[in-house]
Amino acid sequence: PLPANIYPNRLNSAGVDLAHRPTMTTLRERLAELARDFPEVKPESIQHGLMRKVRGPQDAASLVGTIHDATLADVEAMIPRALAAQPAWDALGGVERAALLDKAADLCEENSDRIISLCQREAGKTPVDAVLELREAVDFLRYYACEARLLFSAPQPLPGPTGEENLLRLHGRGVFATIAPWNFPLAIFIGMASAAMAAGNSVIAKPAEQTPMIAALAVELCHQAGIPADVLQLAPGDGAIGAALTADPRISGVAFTGSVATAQAINRAMAAREGPIGKLIAETGGQNAMIVDSSALPEQVTRDVMSSAFQSAGQRCSALRVLYVQEDVADTMLAMIRGAFEALVIGDPADPATDVGPVIDAEAKASLDAHVAEMAARGYTVWQRDLPPACAKGTYVAPTIIEVGSIADVGEEHFGPVLHIARFPAGGLEQVITDINATGYGLTLGVHSRIGAVRRLVEAKARVGNLYVNRNQIGAVVGSQPFGGEGLSGTGPKAGGPHYVTAFATERVTCVDT
Ligand code: NAD
Ligand code: ALA
Repeated sequence: PLPANIYPNRLNSAGVDLAHRPTMTTLRERLAELARDFPEVKPESIQHGLMRKVRGPQDAASLVGTIHDATLADVEAMIPRALAAQPAWDALGGVERAALLDKAADLCEENSDRIISLCQREAGKTPVDAVLELREAVDFLRYYACEARLLFSAPQPLPGPTGEENLLRLHGRGVFATIAPWNFPLAIFIGMASAAMAAGNSVIAKPAEQTPMIAALAVELCHQAGIPADVLQLAPGDGAIGAALTADPRISGVAFTGSVATAQAINRAMAAREGPIGKLIAETGGQNAMIVDSSALPEQVTRDVMSSAFQSAGQRCSALRVLYVQEDVADTMLAMIRGAFEALVIGDPADPATDVGPVIDAEAKASLDAHVAEMAARGYTVWQRDLPPACAKGTYVAPTIIEVGSIADVGEEHFGPVLHIARFPAGGLEQVITDINATGYGLTLGVHSRIGAVRRLVEAKARVGNLYVNRNQIGAVVGSQPFGGEGLSGTGPKAGGPHYVTAFATERVTCVDT
C-alpha cells in the first residue's frame, strides 16, 4: 500500500463560497459583464480553421462566442509539432512539469469568474455545478502535479540480488490525443490533458463540439502558466477530428471520456492502425443504480436520490438512473421522493435558485423525450413535471420518474433528468445485484441500509467502480474517491487516483553490472 503522506502539501480547492453574500454580489456583477462579451477565439494551434458560432443550451438565440474549429489540415500540422516538442518536455522532469501544472491551477482559480461564466453560458451549468467544475479542474491539476513530482523526478532503485544496479524510470509515451465530453467541459478536459502532460507526453486536446470555448480558456491559462504551445495544442471540432487523431499511428495514446459507442469506435480505429500498438484509456457511461432497504432513513434517501438523479440535470456519468426500493417501504419512500421531485426548481442556470437547468442540445433533448414517450407507450407509469414557459427558449427536458419492473426494462443509459424506480421483495437483494451486474456497465452504485451485512454483500458481489453507502452517488473528490468504472463503463485506471498518471507513461529499466 502507498504511504498516506505522499501528497503532504496537497489540498483540494476551496472553490468559491456561494453562501458568502459579498462574494456572490461581486460574482453576479462580473457574470453580468462577461455575459456581454462574445469572444472570437482562434487557438494558436489553428492555421486554417473553420469559423463556427457557439450557442448555449438555455436559449437557442444566446451567443457565447465564435470558435475557429480545426480542419483535417490543421490536425495534420499539429502532429509533427507535438512530436518535435515531446522529448524536451519529457526531459524537463517531473518537478519542473509539476510547477507549471500548479501554476495553471492557480490561474484557473484566479480566473474563476471567467470559468463560471462559460460553464453557465456554454454548458448550461448552475452556479453550484460551475463551482464544482472549477474545483475539480484545479484538483486534477494539483493532484497530477504531485504525481509528476513523486513518479518522474528520480529513478526507482530495484533490488540487485546478483550485485547489479537496477533502475526503473518512467517516461512519456509520445503524443497523446485527449478526447473529452461536454458534461465536464473543463474538469475532464483538463484532467486528461494534465495527466498526460504530467507523465511527459505532448498533447493534442480535442474538446466536445458543444463546449470549445471553455476548453480554449483552459488551454490559454495553461500556456500563460508556461506550458509550451506545442506541448498542449487545442483541436476543437466534431467527431471527425477525434477520428483523424485516433486513426493516426503517430499518436502513441488516446485518453477518451464519453459514450460507450464512441469508445468502441476508437478502439476499432486504433486496432486497425499499422505500426506500434497504441494505448487506450477510456471512461464511458453507466446504468447506475441505488438500492434502498427497509432499514434506510427516508429523509436521507430522499435528499440523496434528488441530488444523484437530478443535479446537473442528470448529466453526470455517475448519476442515478435506476432506484431499487424494498417493497415493504416503497410506498412511503416513493411518496417522499415524489414530494421532493415536485419541489425541484426548473429554469435558467444563471439563477442561483435553479435545481435543474437545460440538457446540452436538441439531440439530447429529442433522445430523452423519445425514451419517456416510449416507456409511456409500453405501459409504465410516468410522472413528469411541467416545464415553465420560459424553458421553451432552450433545450429543457421535464424531470421525469418512471416506475419499471427491473433495470432490464430501461435499456441503454439515458443521459438526463429521468429516474427509473423498481421495487424488490425482502430477501431479493442478491437478485437485484445480479440484475445490475447483467447490464454489463459498472460505474457507480448507491446503497442505503443500516445493516452491515447488506453493505458487505453488495461490496462482495457488485461489479462497480464506485460504491457509495448512505450518501449520494455523485461528486467523487479527486485524491479521495478516485473515479471510474469497469466493464462497459471503461478501461480504468481511475481518474484522480494513484494509478492514473502511470497509465500515460512507459517504463524503462537500466541494469548495470557493478
Ligand atoms: P460522445 O461519445 O458523443 O463524445 C465524446 C467525445 O468524442 C467528443 O469530443 C466527440 O466529438 C468525440 N467523438 C465522437 N465521435 C468520435 C470518433 N469516431 N472518434 C473519436 N472521437 C469521437 O459523448 P458525450 O455525449 O460528449 O458525453 C456523454 C457521455 O460521456 C455519457 O455516456 C457519459 O456517461 C460519459 N461520461 C463518462 C465519464 C466517466 O468518467 N466515466 C465522465 C463523463 C461523461
Ligand atoms: N466525477 C464525477 C462525479 O463523481 C463524474 O460525479
